[in-house]
Amino acid sequence: MNEDAKRNMGNATRVVAAGRRKEWTGGIVNPPVWRASTILYDNVAEMRARGSADTHHKLFYGRRGTPTQWSLADALTELEPGAEATFLYPSGVAAIAAALLTVLAPGDELLMVDSTYDPTRGLCDGLLARMGITTRYYDPMVGAGIADLIGERTRAIYMESPGSLTFEVQDVPAIVAVAKAQGLVTLLDNTWATPLLFPAMTRGIDYSILACTKYVVGHSDAMLGSVTAAPGKFDALRQTSFQMGQCVSPDDAYLGSRGLRTMALRLKEQGRSALAIAGWLAQQPGVARVLHPAVDTCPGHDLFERDFKGAAGLFAFVLDGGKDAARTALIDGLDLFGIGYSWGGYESLVVPVDPQRHRSVTDWQAEGPVVRLQIGIEDTEDLIADLARGLEQFRAACR
Ligand SMILES: Cc1ncc(COP(=O)(O)O)c(C=O)c1O
Repeated sequence: MNEDAKRNMGNATRVVAAGRRKEWTGGIVNPPVWRASTILYDNVAEMRARGSADTHHKLFYGRRGTPTQWSLADALTELEPGAEATFLYPSGVAAIAAALLTVLAPGDELLMVDSTYDPTRGLCDGLLARMGITTRYYDPMVGAGIADLIGERTRAIYMESPGSLTFEVQDVPAIVAVAKAQGLVTLLDNTWATPLLFPAMTRGIDYSILACTKYVVGHSDAMLGSVTAAPGKFDALRQTSFQMGQCVSPDDAYLGSRGLRTMALRLKEQGRSALAIAGWLAQQPGVARVLHPAVDTCPGHDLFERDFKGAAGLFAFVLDGGKDAARTALIDGLDLFGIGYSWGGYESLVVPVDPQRHRSVTDWQAEGPVVRLQIGIEDTEDLIADLARGLEQFRAACR
């Protein structure tokens, strides 16, 4: 089957097949776990020859990976039409750091979306600042207006769309068009949508980053990250990542591959259930508004409708008044939603979110405190019944 035919297949078909090369699996359905540090050579000549050649997809030394890691990396590349290749990392934050360190040098300026994941901000304000790289934060709704923020030292624009706390959808194509016209590199944290719902390379992104810990692994039992590079952009990423000593364990890569096979199904179901729950929440007394990109009360909803192929299962809602104690009563009153960080697993989670603590150039104005929900694959009606009990606790605490 040719590459175009493969690309045109549905998401579920693509995730089942991706990365399962026979030369790596030996015909076994799941790419097995190849554990290695040392690789043995027949003689010194072979060792020298291998060492001086390109070791991509060749056994060389454990840090450069084995078919277990290559299979997952290739699967993620296959799922991102137009991509060159993917590098894996031991966490999403490690992937973000490697991508930024690949494209930035002392003296450069980075344009970073103000709604970004907090540890990404920590990296910019910490390590990057210490290296003499400055960060200028911008409004997630800036769109083509990003052009006004570009200065002589600007080197790259980083997007996270939607933001993982407040869910603003960015105008990625408009920002990419400006970046291309000015010769800037673009990076996108695409963890929420994954390439299945937002094929980043076809929208012109240079580096698409996933916290694979979320939907790829999908079972809340491993940490993993990836960066997928556009044509011509992979070599620099690989060199930086090798120099930083980045590698992931074959066991974690295996869990990533295993999770990936059901990712399309999970995403579809979690997105469907999240929308049903979001619609129900929007009607409840005590809820001011829902922040899910697929709902029209979310900033950038029109861009979501234009650019995305579907909805994921992570969203937030703003309470109608009430203080932190009332929000805590809601959250503590839930039985089916675990209280814990992360998302993208099969189980539902809830966290309190305080957006104003993680912004520097945009104001967060809301009717009340914010609650973020990760919707798992439990039955939607059970989750709604649980939330109804939690909201009752909230309303009682507000009285
Ligand atoms: C949007 C987003 N990006 C990146 C990360 C970081 O991923 P990890 O926890 O694997 O380092 C997270 C984690 O919550 C996230 O929500």
